[in-house]
Amino acid sequence: MTDITHDRLLIIDFGSQVTQLIARRLRELNVYCEIHPYQNVTDSFLADFAPKAVILSGGPASVINDASPRPPVSVFELNVPVLGICYGQQVMMHMLGGKVERGHGTAEFGRAFVTAGTAKLDLLDGWFMQGDEQVWMSHGDHVSRIAPGFTVYGTSPNAPFAITADPARRFYAVQFHPEVHHTPNGAMLYKNFVEMAGFSGDWTMGAYREDAIAAIRAQVGAAHVICGLSGGVDSSVTAMLLHEAIGDQLTCVFVDHGLLRQNEAEEVVAMFRDNYNIKLIHADERDLFLGELDGQSDPETKRKIIGRLFIDVFQKYASQIEDAKFLAQGTLYPDVIESVSFSGGPSVTIKSHHNVGGLPEKMGLKLVEPLRELFKDEVRELGVELGLPKSFIGRHPFPGPGLAIRCPGEITRPKLEILRHADAVFIDQIRKHGLYDDIWQAFVAILPVKTVGVMGDGRTYDYACALRAVTSVDGMTADYYPFSHEFLGETATRIINEVEGINRVTYDITSKPPGTIEWE
Ligand code: XMP
Repeated sequence: MTDITHDRLLIIDFGSQVTQLIARRLRELNVYCEIHPYQNVTDSFLADFAPKAVILSGGPASVINDASPRPPVSVFELNVPVLGICYGQQVMMHMLGGKVERGHGTAEFGRAFVTAGTAKLDLLDGWFMQGDEQVWMSHGDHVSRIAPGFTVYGTSPNAPFAITADPARRFYAVQFHPEVHHTPNGAMLYKNFVEMAGFSGDWTMGAYREDAIAAIRAQVGAAHVICGLSGGVDSSVTAMLLHEAIGDQLTCVFVDHGLLRQNEAEEVVAMFRDNYNIKLIHADERDLFLGELDGQSDPETKRKIIGRLFIDVFQKYASQIEDAKFLAQGTLYPDVIESVSFSGGPSVTIKSHHNVGGLPEKMGLKLVEPLRELFKDEVRELGVELGLPKSFIGRHPFPGPGLAIRCPGEITRPKLEILRHADAVFIDQIRKHGLYDDIWQAFVAILPVKTVGVMGDGRTYDYACALRAVTSVDGMTADYYPFSHEFLGETATRIINEVEGINRVTYDITSKPPGTIEWE
């Protein structure tokens, strides 16, 4: 837990798929909150955390099972508002003297409409203005008797206790999920809840920056920190924040594996070393990586080689830094939440992702993760707050293995040169047409096939390439970007005219799934 001086709201997680969205809604209200799995929430934890309000999340369990998750009873003795959502509602009823029953008759999944009760409730300010409210239900069990002190404030056809509350104790319980967008007015309930709890909405990015800097100084003391800088948004913002907190106690390592985009290494080095005066080791390891990749064409083999070399190289440079005790990482909030997931079971590996996992233990380094509490868009906001140019912060994601996974088949230096050039033309086109910010990611893949063409009076026999541009929210699913035919035609002409080595351009219109965004 960061040493935050702001009022805090505690979300006790019972394993719902959408708990993160509760945090999202609260962040939008400038309220500081933390999600903690129910197992960690003990009496002493609660005393330390001192929440100004508590939310009990949904979850897959059934309170009817004695072994199902519970918050400590003391949650209800803190004298702060408590909001129970779905499973949280049932746990509240069960623990406060109501009754929950299993019953398929009332199982309700998906859209439902809640009708207002007769009494008024502060939580519902602004609700029911246009009649019934649409909500999102997802529950199997149902409350059959509400706890003493509670009154009904809203019903749906299958949930007679859709909204209940004990206003005197400021306990609120809803059967549905106000945090998802299928409950269109759900954000209003959170706004009312935090206002009632007395939050002032002072948790802004400026405040976060100050808190994070103080926390980094307290954690690191006089020791040295190493940070792997890729030029991506997360590692760049991490580096900027650390630099502001501890100045020269930070050394960044930028590994050039020879698989970067046009001018990328120069831009990153100029930006951080020359502009911001951050100590930066520019590790030029192009020969090493390209040497080991020589002759390799299997996608997984390529990824594994790059991942292994990256760790070796990073370790080599990091071990030269005296008194290095910490490794800084741009871990984000969604990564933290995933690691406390309840569903268990590893998911299938589609592609081996490139990261520095295992490195801290191997080197005996402790982790500094100053972005652990932020969502991606908040990281961008913090980057702006720290003075990084908007154009840099808005850059499309670029994968760790770089151009290697955009060059199916064998990787050769001449092919990489052609690819870099074509990619630069494509991105230039996108920027010129004002489309860059509408697109999640755009790039060129060079195909392992040569085709015949004709230019001027001569025959050509050059590579074909594929343009890839997708829209996405989180990279998990994606759709191809619907460029106009004019745009595609103009771009193909420019690539063929300007890039020596390409004589055919195709546009990849595969969505994800079934495709992936990268080609390998
Ligand atoms: P795919 O190709 O799996 O990519 O649809 C989804 C998103 O992840 C990025 N990506 C990576 N990022 N290391 C990374 O840091 C990797 O190994 C890696 N592989 C894919 C990809 O660019 C897209 O944004």
